[in-house]
Amino acid sequence: MCGIVGYIGPRQAQDVLISGLSKLEYRGYDSAGVAIQEQDGHIDVCKKAGKLSNLAAVLEAEPLLGTLGIGHTRWATHGLPNDTNAHPHASEDGKIVIIHNGIIENYLPLKEQLTQRGHVFRSETDSEVLVHLIEEKYAQTNNDLYEAVRLALGDVRGAYGIVVTHADHREIVAARTVSPMVMGVGEGEMFLASDVPALLPYTREMVFLHDGDMVILHDDGFKVTDLAGREVQRNIEHIDWDAEAAEKGGYDSYMMKEIFEQPTALTNTLIGRLHDDTGEVNLDIKLDPASFKRISIIACGTAFYAGMVGEYLIEQLARIPVDIDVASEYRYRDPLVNEHTLAIVMSQSGETIDTLEALREAKKFGAKTLGIINAKGSSMTREVDDTLYIHAGPEIGVASTKAYTSMVSAMLMLALWLGRARGTLTEQQSRELLLAARELPRLVEQLLTPERVEHIKQVAEKYAYARDFLFLGRGVNSPTAYEGALKLKEISYIHAEAYAAGEMKHGPIALIDEHMPVVVIATESKLLEKTISNVQEVRARKGKVILVLSEGDTEHARYGDDVIYVPRAQEMVSPVVNAVALQLLAIFTAQKLGKDVDKPRNLAKAVTVE
Ligand code: AGP
Repeated sequence: MCGIVGYIGPRQAQDVLISGLSKLEYRGYDSAGVAIQEQDGHIDVCKKAGKLSNLAAVLEAEPLLGTLGIGHTRWATHGLPNDTNAHPHASEDGKIVIIHNGIIENYLPLKEQLTQRGHVFRSETDSEVLVHLIEEKYAQTNNDLYEAVRLALGDVRGAYGIVVTHADHREIVAARTVSPMVMGVGEGEMFLASDVPALLPYTREMVFLHDGDMVILHDDGFKVTDLAGREVQRNIEHIDWDAEAAEKGGYDSYMMKEIFEQPTALTNTLIGRLHDDTGEVNLDIKLDPASFKRISIIACGTAFYAGMVGEYLIEQLARIPVDIDVASEYRYRDPLVNEHTLAIVMSQSGETIDTLEALREAKKFGAKTLGIINAKGSSMTREVDDTLYIHAGPEIGVASTKAYTSMVSAMLMLALWLGRARGTLTEQQSRELLLAARELPRLVEQLLTPERVEHIKQVAEKYAYARDFLFLGRGVNSPTAYEGALKLKEISYIHAEAYAAGEMKHGPIALIDEHMPVVVIATESKLLEKTISNVQEVRARKGKVILVLSEGDTEHARYGDDVIYVPRAQEMVSPVVNAVALQLLAIFTAQKLGKDVDKPRNLAKAVTVE
């Protein structure tokens, strides 16, 4: 989720780039840089680790003069946040300069091949392979920058928003796949950015580039093509959002924006790690799968529920004993920990004090430690032995949404990786689950269609005035019920409890009456019929049942007062899809009640005090 800005026109590019990048800082970054083409064509590059203000201070003291430039703020995926790994990246002769947002899935083989052909790499990033590829193709295309970029992208797999300039050309070439990019159309000037806020001070006429689009920008206009070089038409849209609405991508809250960002976030979590050809998962972590005999998962809140899913997945796929604790309990219960324990801490922020202190407690007794974390460079990432970043991008809404589904997906990949490494998972089983995981962005996209979203909104508004809710689920979707209950209560302030569906008859059933909506996750599962029995127990006591069913399951629809259909998903990956339906149920309920979903009362995004 890096910030990208490009400019060509009469203005001093440096001013536009720094202004634009500062409007993207909510996307988070750990380094920033610009490249500006001087009047004589020479391209100057300035890049600094740390906050954008570090770069701005250097440029303030020594401005770069020129009216064509590109700028970048980095949310590191490969390579530490430092000056060298910051973007832009330049070719060896300094004539070609690129910035990139996304993940190049096949960068390692590309880097090896390019190195063998004599290219010298300066950074640890995946992005740098792009500039060397383009440099090679440029030499083969009688100096056609657009064609060089187009051919280079033909060798690339992954997610990219890339912007390229060349000292010998007054033009900017860009392309996007998965990573967002928007073009601003001015009078005698053109702009590019990874998000609308960067462009609003200069123009409201915008073109939202589609997946697979390429674009060439000149001072007086632009041309959009597909990756095959065929021209395509893209409409110029007038954007009347104010600055705050723009940061929310036109949604009425960061939380809603982040719910709808999940297909992209999941793509970024999974991409580069799933290898269909071998059925292997590559997590790029140093952990030795044979070096521990049991796993302790430690987290808080939503992260804890992602950990609960992980417990099911790891025990089922890797056959390793797993225990799980909320961090605030783990710290004080004198846990049994030794050098044969792997302690996994899960955290969106990487700063939750309970989880951080629990990590320290585990380390004190010799545990190996792994962090499943979103925020780059956060405290936990500096104290664990290894970090599996979830790459969900900055999450602004206090109620966690995309970080949850990305954490669950990361847990699935970890379970697959452990299962293969320990021989408890056959190649065939691994391939099937890996393909199911690869489907997740598309399945979530299918759930987020206007028709399904509108239906969930109607269900939410129908029950918005209930005083209490019950959420029930079984197996790997039992944690989904807990997460759904948390989502509802933390933004609507309605009391909501969750239980493993089979547990309801051991007490909670006393709560059931005609005033009690009961949300039951009853998607495709070997436990589906047992779950339906629990539903019938609820209905026998006049409870109102909101049934979450797999698409096409008409047989069980009659057991629900209302039914929410979700795309059919393999059971092990279904918690990701089901959670999105419950996120929508919660946010529409809270909106109906007029609550501030981004800043719920009493809550903080990261609980950094005890
Ligand atoms: C999630 O919706 C809540 N805001 C809260 O439970 C959160 O998950 C918890 O505080 C843990 O935060 P972390 O993932 O940043 O450690």
